[in-house]
Amino acid sequence: MPIITEIADLKRIYKRRVPKMFYDYAESGSWSEQTFRENTSDFDKIRLRQRIAKDMDNRSIKSQMIGEDVSMPVALAPVGLTGMQSADGEIKAAKAAEKFGVPFCLSTMSICSIEDVAAHTTKPFWFQVYTLKDDDFMGRLFERARAANVSAMVITVDLQVLGQRHKDLKNGLSAPPKLTIKSVANMMTKVTWGLEMLQTKRRFFGNIVGHAKGVSDPSSLSSWTAEAFDPSLDWDRIKTLMEMWGGKVILKGILDVEDAKKAVEVGADAIVVSNHGGRQLDGALSSIRMLEDIVKEVGDKTEVWLDSGIRSGQDVLKAVAMGAKGVMIGRAWVYGLGAMGEKGVTSALEVIHKELDVSMALCGKRDIQDVDRDIVLVPKGFSGDWA
Ligand code: GLV
Repeated sequence: MPIITEIADLKRIYKRRVPKMFYDYAESGSWSEQTFRENTSDFDKIRLRQRIAKDMDNRSIKSQMIGEDVSMPVALAPVGLTGMQSADGEIKAAKAAEKFGVPFCLSTMSICSIEDVAAHTTKPFWFQVYTLKDDDFMGRLFERARAANVSAMVITVDLQVLGQRHKDLKNGLSAPPKLTIKSVANMMTKVTWGLEMLQTKRRFFGNIVGHAKGVSDPSSLSSWTAEAFDPSLDWDRIKTLMEMWGGKVILKGILDVEDAKKAVEVGADAIVVSNHGGRQLDGALSSIRMLEDIVKEVGDKTEVWLDSGIRSGQDVLKAVAMGAKGVMIGRAWVYGLGAMGEKGVTSALEVIHKELDVSMALCGKRDIQDVDRDIVLVPKGFSGDWA
């Protein structure tokens, strides 16, 4: 077992073990990837304030997200195709999250279905949906989620149309992968991945294939989004979908104060300040730059979380210090999954947990609940010098 000390170690192994098509899918932003890059480089601009001679004994980073106890304020974000990163990947990740005491959110674009994940876990998980045109399909998804004991619905609100990721087009991304000379030649070099994949039947979009009607190529993310997603989405439709679900709702993909106010108006239990990991609007500001303005406006009315750019416990600490009640990680757990399956997801969580705990201590805090703006040094104009 390799010694893993940071998320970058998992990423290196992941890159070696998983076919290029799926590595590229996770590791892409849209168009020039400016927003994708700035999501992480903007975290690097924020510094932590070192304090000494403070009692650092008996520390706690336990918290709550939408009333659920969490061992740290970190949830596994919904990520599509993770059953292609490692055979039965969503089941492996859900099990790792459950054992670690953090929420797992299953993507609609997963390979393992809602029922598969429910059958392999014991605690409720979260489910993510897009805003689709087909009410029947949405209704059935909600029905299936209820039957699987899903405790909250994450509605992705920043993907009415798909931002273009060049590599996915060039690689001919699909699940299962289409067998071309190029893809087969690459897959043949990924022996463990291939052997595990041959042993599972779960190689299709498990929530879609056999459930959604009128999809011309159900193996392709881009044709499904073009055909099924609702480009005319508005707040009334979001409200309708929230009512159709009827339980707790997290609106993911808010990057503007005005949209955050609307999300509060429609009654979101939490919002995720997010630019979809830089995969949608290239040129948008990083999530961490937008966080404080949004927290200032709605932080006392709903839970404000953040995703996009979190690769370490220090990043989690910075986001919490700037007002996030919690964060979602996406790529960080996918690197772990692709590198070492369930063990790799656990390893990613362990790395982040330790970094968060020790960094918090070195900032002079013993409890994550006491972490505030005082412990970060943020460059002047970080959030606001844009006209
Ligand atoms: C889907 O949500 C994606 O970003 O690929």
